[in-house]
Amino acid sequence: MDTTTSNSRHVNLSAYEGVEALENFTPERFADYCRDKLLSSDKFVEFIRQHCAHDPDWQGKVAEIGSGNSKLLYNLEKQGLLKEGLGIEISRSRHEFANKFAEHIGSQRVTNLNEDVFNLPTLTGYDLVIGVDIVLQLISPLFDKAEDRLLDWVHSSLRPGGRVLFELWDFEYFKALLAQSDNALRLWEEFPASDPFEYCLATLSFDDNKDIVWDKRFIRRSCGQRSEFSNILRPYSPEGITKILAQAGFVNPLVIDCSKEGPDGAQGEFLVLAQKAL
Ligand SMILES: C[S@@+](CC[C@H](N)C(=O)[O-])C[C@H]1O[C@@H](n2cnc3c(N)ncnc32)[C@H](O)[C@@H]1O
Repeated sequence: MDTTTSNSRHVNLSAYEGVEALENFTPERFADYCRDKLLSSDKFVEFIRQHCAHDPDWQGKVAEIGSGNSKLLYNLEKQGLLKEGLGIEISRSRHEFANKFAEHIGSQRVTNLNEDVFNLPTLTGYDLVIGVDIVLQLISPLFDKAEDRLLDWVHSSLRPGGRVLFELWDFEYFKALLAQSDNALRLWEEFPASDPFEYCLATLSFDDNKDIVWDKRFIRRSCGQRSEFSNILRPYSPEGITKILAQAGFVNPLVIDCSKEGPDGAQGEFLVLAQKAL
């Protein structure tokens, strides 16, 4: 693996290619899926309303790194919290899905870029940069200093007083199970009926950096067709990321333990919000 720069050979950069490929959706399933995805992002919208959009300087300029299908940006727009949104997503299939999703709901204020975030110049004057659902955990293992470079990019892209929001998992639960399982833990998951895939079978192990290698095999609903991908994920603790954000120049950290907030928070999941100094 190239350790000096982001490159397309790292499994994390290609892992989501083919995810949400439009040919896997009938028009009806597409509509149901978009509805479910919008609903699933409500918890972040409420968090942003409460902790970011109350700010008198809030202009509604929001960028999301690893934006997937851009559901969160669309939901923020729908709720009147976003004036200018930018979704940055390296997977072409997800980017195409995001554009069709925009058409489906009549989004006017979100632009989707099909790019590796490391290939972009810094943005200007953003109120909020988001990385939710393991995005930082996928990006940090890409190359040496990937974490530093990403946080520099985020810091430079924000206006003074602007914020960064990450959703992270400490993976303590999996780390403990892995420690008892000879470095190969197997798990399965069932998806809701609107998802073209029915099951995911996953195998987890540690690599030499103590990042978690997460091999996923998906089984498609109705035809049983399989597809697979691997992620290498960096575990973060609330204390660890708070320190890292402080070193990158962020202040006023707020950590929310999701397992204690609301009904659908998972064990070990937390949000961290921090601000660029005024
Ligand atoms: C776990 S998904 C989360 C998607 C979305 N944020 C959500 O909450 O549904 C992580 C996404 O980050 C994207 N990604 C990973 N590395 C990236 C990079 N360097 N630049 C842009 N997108 C990236 C992946 O392709 C994937 O779609």
